[in-house]
Amino acid sequence: MCEPMVTTSQTVNYLEHIRPQPDALLAEMEAHGSRDRIPIVVPETGALLQILALAHGARRALEVGTAIGVSTLYIARGLPDDGMIVSFEVDAERHQAARNYLGRAGLLERVDLRLQDAREGLPALAGSFDFAFIDGVKAQYGDYFELVMPLLAPAAVLVVDNALMGGSVADLQDTSEMATGLRTFNGRLLSDPGLIATVTPIGDGVLVAIKR
Ligand SMILES: C[S@@+](CC[C@H](N)C(=O)[O-])C[C@H]1O[C@@H](n2cnc3c(N)ncnc32)[C@H](O)[C@@H]1O
Repeated sequence: MCEPMVTTSQTVNYLEHIRPQPDALLAEMEAHGSRDRIPIVVPETGALLQILALAHGARRALEVGTAIGVSTLYIARGLPDDGMIVSFEVDAERHQAARNYLGRAGLLERVDLRLQDAREGLPALAGSFDFAFIDGVKAQYGDYFELVMPLLAPAAVLVVDNALMGGSVADLQDTSEMATGLRTFNGRLLSDPGLIATVTPIGDGVLVAIKR
């Protein structure tokens, strides 16, 4: 199940029309996501992840929320042969599905899939990372951010999905915990002196930042 897109339906239709066909493996993963209602990045967000990793020359990446490995696949495809992405997932079935798909993609040497709560796994990581993607439970975004930031090298790229959450974040009448929490989170990152950050209306809203 691809997540919603926050732009107009005309723009969404256009983007769906011009988007390249996914390869057979990605198409199978997308169908799996739809069938089991697993929220995965839309292809535009996936492409953005791959482009940013490639443009930055990222070598060591982090991910919170593997699910079945769609975003992991895009990021891994943006890393060099000796690159590595460490990705956390708490759901054993999704973690195993991701392992199978990424194995079939020939990327297992480039991915370190961990069946672990990212809030426990991140503090145990050593070394620094030059790319991070946060896409776990929205209510935990603040926790992930606190744990990811010290692991990022200067000039590292940080990407956060669902920054606009189906449009609810921009609807100030929406005072749900989810919408207010994401508003607070976005405001916090955009005003953080340690980051240059922006929120883009790609997919479900993607926050993109560079660590100063
Ligand atoms: C939106 S899905 C991730 C989708 C994936 N990034 C993609 O686009 O292909 C969020 C995933 O985060 C996992 N998750 C939830 N809490 C977590 C945590 N504390 N640590 C790691 N993963 C978590 C969920 O089980 C779920 O599969």
